[in-house]
Parts: sequence; C-alpha cells; structure tokens
Amino acid sequence: MKRRDFINWVGLGGIASSLPIAIAACSSGTNSASGDWQTVGTSAELDKTGQLLVKNSSAGPVLVVGKSKSENLAAVNPSCPHSGCTVGWKADAKKLVCPCHGSEFGIDGKVQRGPATEALKTYAVKIEGDSVVVKPS
Ligand code: FES
Repeated sequence: MKRRDFINWVGLGGIASSLPIAIAACSSGTNSASGDWQTVGTSAELDKTGQLLVKNSSAGPVLVVGKSKSENLAAVNPSCPHSGCTVGWKADAKKLVCPCHGSEFGIDGKVQRGPATEALKTYAVKIEGDSVVVKPS
C-alpha cells in the first residue's frame, strides 16, 4: 500500500468510526421530550366550553374534552384518519364527529361510523395546578 493510499484509508476510517457518535449526539436532544407531559392550556379555558382545541401544541394537535373537575377528562388527536379534517366534539351526542365525510368516534377515539377505519390517536390527560397537560398514550 502506498503512503497516500494509507492516509486516505485511515482518514475514511476515522470519519466512519466517528459517525455513529455524531448521530447519537444529534438525536439525544429530540428523544428526551417525547415522553413528557406538555401543557396545552388552562383549566379556565377548558371549563368555558367543556373542550379545548390546540392545533399546534408541542405534543401535536390536541382536543381535550370534559371539565377540569370531571373524572371523564379525555384527549385525542383531532386529525381525522380518513383524510385529515379536524373532528369536533358534539356534547349532546357524546361523540367526535368529522365535518368532512361524517365519520364518528367515541371519546376513546374508536371509530363508531365510517368512512374512517382507524381510531383517533389519544393522549393521557390530567390537570396539574391550573394547567391542562397531555402526554401521548
Ligand atoms: S376526513 Fe374525516 S371522514 Fe373524511
């Protein structure tokens, strides 16, 4: 092996061996927040109408349904799995209804009527002080 080839070979090896460390260093910051509770609003905001829609929370789109003092507090990702419209909470019927093609979901996110075939994603939700906080479940 010529000297120049050797230097090139060692140089490439050095880059290749340090790559996994660089990737790990970059990704460690993004993973740390994924399992954390995120504040999406206040108890007062939720209690005004019995629902709280936050389209751009740090946890993603969130629709919280219920009152801060109720035991039946629930939270879903309101993006309809059929074509992505935002579902709304119909308190009288106690279901989530999509305005685009009429899919209906229970408060647990499960499909009650199509055309959607997949459930809405859900969040764990709780009241912490005066804040409504959610975490992907
Ligand atoms: S987008 Fe919701 S039913 Fe089609």
